Amino acid sequence: MILVTGITGQLGYDVTRELEKRGEKFIGTTRKEIDLSTEEGTKNFILKNKPDAVIHCAAYTAVDKAEEEAELAITVNGLGARRIAEACREIDAKMIFVSTDYVFGGDGKTPYEVTDEKNPVNTYGRSKLLGEDAVSMILKKYFIVRTSWVFGSNGKNFVKTMLNLADKNKKLKVVNDQIGSPTYTPDLAKLLVDMVQTENYGYYHATNEGFCSWAEFAEEIFKQAGKKVEVEKISTADYPTPAKRPFNSRLSKKSLDDAGFERLPAWEDALKRYLVELKKV
Ligand SMILES: NC(=O)c1ccc[n+]([C@@H]2O[C@H](COP(=O)([O-])OP(=O)(O)OC[C@H]3O[C@@H](n4cnc5c(N)ncnc54)[C@H](OP(=O)(O)O)[C@@H]3O)[C@@H](O)[C@H]2O)c1
Repeated sequence: MILVTGITGQLGYDVTRELEKRGEKFIGTTRKEIDLSTEEGTKNFILKNKPDAVIHCAAYTAVDKAEEEAELAITVNGLGARRIAEACREIDAKMIFVSTDYVFGGDGKTPYEVTDEKNPVNTYGRSKLLGEDAVSMILKKYFIVRTSWVFGSNGKNFVKTMLNLADKNKKLKVVNDQIGSPTYTPDLAKLLVDMVQTENYGYYHATNEGFCSWAEFAEEIFKQAGKKVEVEKISTADYPTPAKRPFNSRLSKKSLDDAGFERLPAWEDALKRYLVELKKV
């Protein structure tokens, strides 16, 4: 049996849909069953239900707010992951920890390999790195999967924000000097469910294929959705936010290839399927 945390979020929701589709036995948890802010709240439910694996999707994901709520972000993402790992060790369960491109500093223009130096530039990135380090120290049977720029039907994301803004604006300013890869949660969910059934433990990067800037992402959203909105490409310096963001979020997929996992489809293709999905909701 597989336990999935954070099913009220984008990824957790689609992981449970994928497990359902495949007829796998699973339990999905919300804050009610697993509250990552306390030790007992995090561990007890896992110890009682004894899953064979935990796919840990829940996280503190408010990147800007984390700058003022650092303690909470670190408790939920760092300590929370540690406690889940400790519970998994006690019952000999596998664990997938979903992490982020924000563990890297964002220098240069080449894709980061999984083993490259980590140097988070904001509190959220630091909190996720604490989680990664704890999981890899405590467990042998772990997968650490870094993803980026997530969008899915169950939650807020950049695509939904752009579509909402398109209803009231003819022109939008969007940052053009942060480069990364959008990731569609049903595509990532498939990979995670494949992965958890193997023993190919270790670190992975998993995003939809291809790189773009936020401005290029916005242009493609408007093109595919048939919205007449002009995108003005601006720099990060012209759009200050409480949390710093890395400029380079390109992630190398070499470790996925080496382990024989299939890469995710191109991000433009994922966007096309997402826009169809949004119409059904
Ligand atoms: N979103 C991105 O662009 C992005 C990029 C890179 C990596 N990631 C990583 O990918 C994973 C999935 O992200 P997502 O976009 O699906 O997240 P999301 O939609 O923001 O959902 C986060 C989930 O975590 C739960 N949660 C938050 N605080 C909690 C706590 N104290 N105790 C228990 N549950 C708590 C939320 O529950 P409530 O609904 O009750 O708040 C929600 O179910 C996360 O590990 C995230 O760090 C995300």
